[in-house]
Amino acid sequence: MCGIVGYVGEKKLVPILLEGLHCLEYRGYDSSGIAIHEGQSLNVIKAVGKISKLEEVLNVNGNSTNGKNGSVHCGIGHTRWATHGEPTEINAHPHFDTEENIAVVHNGIIRNYIEVKEKLIKEGTVFKSQTDTEVVVQLIAYNFKQSKSILKAICKSVNELEGSYALAILFKSEHNKIYAVRKESPLVIGIGKKENYLASDTPTLSRFVDKAARLLDNEIAELSKKEVVFYNFKGKKIKKKILRISKSKDILDKRGFKHYLAKEINEQSEVVLTLLQELLPSAEKSVQLDYLKLEPKFLKEVDRILILACGTAYHAGLVGKHVIEKLTSIPVEVQFASEYLNSASLLTKKSLIVGISQSGETADTIAAIKKAISSGATLIGITNRPDSALADMAKNHLIVSRSGVEVSVAATKTFTTQMLVLYLLAVYISETINHEPSTINLLKKELRQLPQLIDQTLAKSEFYQEQIVKYASSKDFVFIGRGINYPIALEAALKLKELSYIHASGYASGEMKHGPIAVLDRGVPVVSIIVPGETYERVIQNSLEAKSRKAPMIAVAVDGDKKVDGIFDTVLHIPPVSEILSPFLTVIPMQFLSYYIAEHLGRDVDQPRNLAKSVTVE
Ligand code: F6R
Repeated sequence: MCGIVGYVGEKKLVPILLEGLHCLEYRGYDSSGIAIHEGQSLNVIKAVGKISKLEEVLNVNGNSTNGKNGSVHCGIGHTRWATHGEPTEINAHPHFDTEENIAVVHNGIIRNYIEVKEKLIKEGTVFKSQTDTEVVVQLIAYNFKQSKSILKAICKSVNELEGSYALAILFKSEHNKIYAVRKESPLVIGIGKKENYLASDTPTLSRFVDKAARLLDNEIAELSKKEVVFYNFKGKKIKKKILRISKSKDILDKRGFKHYLAKEINEQSEVVLTLLQELLPSAEKSVQLDYLKLEPKFLKEVDRILILACGTAYHAGLVGKHVIEKLTSIPVEVQFASEYLNSASLLTKKSLIVGISQSGETADTIAAIKKAISSGATLIGITNRPDSALADMAKNHLIVSRSGVEVSVAATKTFTTQMLVLYLLAVYISETINHEPSTINLLKKELRQLPQLIDQTLAKSEFYQEQIVKYASSKDFVFIGRGINYPIALEAALKLKELSYIHASGYASGEMKHGPIAVLDRGVPVVSIIVPGETYERVIQNSLEAKSRKAPMIAVAVDGDKKVDGIFDTVLHIPPVSEILSPFLTVIPMQFLSYYIAEHLGRDVDQPRNLAKSVTVE
């Protein structure tokens, strides 16, 4: 979490830093701040809350921060998701050393900060904040005093620090330079003409430049207006590959929607179409995943598949388990990445690991994958970010989910594309080992119909809104589903909680009678996901049990289902669909339910409280 940005060049600095911070706000929005070279001094301006609060402060102090006659050209910025210390102004970044000669912004966690802090306190350093980041800047200042060389001070400091960090550093004595450091937290350098940038992600840089270089672990960059020089942690110069990126301002475009969330929910048919065009261009062709180079002999002998993910990505994994097992007969286990870290690893060289992460940065997922691959098992990575840590780990076994940037903190379109990648992976494995040819051919035809079916479902959004807002005053919700739609019940409960702050639980419908049914009464709506197929009658039966406890009853069911219409108080219809593909449609009314209830309650739907989109702490 936390986003960092930096600029050195001839343009007006503050608007660039603010634009960058707005793009990175998804990474945290507890506080923000900038540090800029101004004349002979280094100025730090901070505010608690979102970037708009920082803008208010900067407008008040406008004259001093925009520079006189374009004299300010070099600065760094930060948007914070609090880990060490509350979201106060003192804990906000950038952090100064005691003498205010050095300013640092940081994304990551310094694991040994207490030891380093104690050592520096003994040497006489006085700390102001509760953050681990202040330790970094004070340590660099301490080492700078000893060595008198910026590069040596940075190299000595990073060798003393344990943990993950992307840092941007300004030295008062170096007017027009930014130093950038990376270890296990993302940092990209944007290369321009007579200007250079840095940011926590590539989409932010793509607003400004069309060339970039990704810092890798244990690398340092020295940015000036003219050039960027790269070093390793020993202070030795290194060469970096410069990548072309497409310049685009799209990331902050809401395309006419009130919220990014609404835009992203409505983009689901489009992103599914993009992914299908790439990986399943026609139902008559095989899935285009040959580049994974997974040999038929290897796939035939795979003993098990372990899916590792967190949150919404974990729910996509649960749907994937159903499909992969059905199409390949290979046993699949899905684990929360954070839990896998504490469990016995039963993988072998014949196992497949599937790591799923929208951001490709989630610390729990990355740590779990590191543990899993030590068994010699093969990793397939599924991420929306080809420039992420997960992408680096998966190397040639990477499937990019091609959803475009998801700005809203709650995952919607990326959930859908993660599911689709898992379906396509299941089809690919099945085709390679020639497992269920007739089922596969039918499924491929149905998959090609998905964009149309999703569009028809999205078209019902106003109807969903009318039906749903009357439940907005409920204090608790229960979502139930079975089989392939049980994960959708879990996802629906997660979405409602994070967007509306209403408590919600998702259950396998058959489990209700084993305890959870006790919570039901007139004040707890039950939302049942009921689609024709193997699970249909049983979910109806479990719903009737809930209805007998006087719970208000809502169903997600296919158009024209008279039986359901007769039982439930409210029915959120979706187009007729096969059970196996139904999660792509049943999740949509659930996303709208959460969105409209949250909006009705006046919640901040794009940036819910206490959350951040990239969770880079374990
Ligand atoms: C919920 C949500 C989170 C993420 C989880 C994993 O809407 O977005 O639950 O799914 O933090 O994030 P990634 O997929 O980036 O690893």
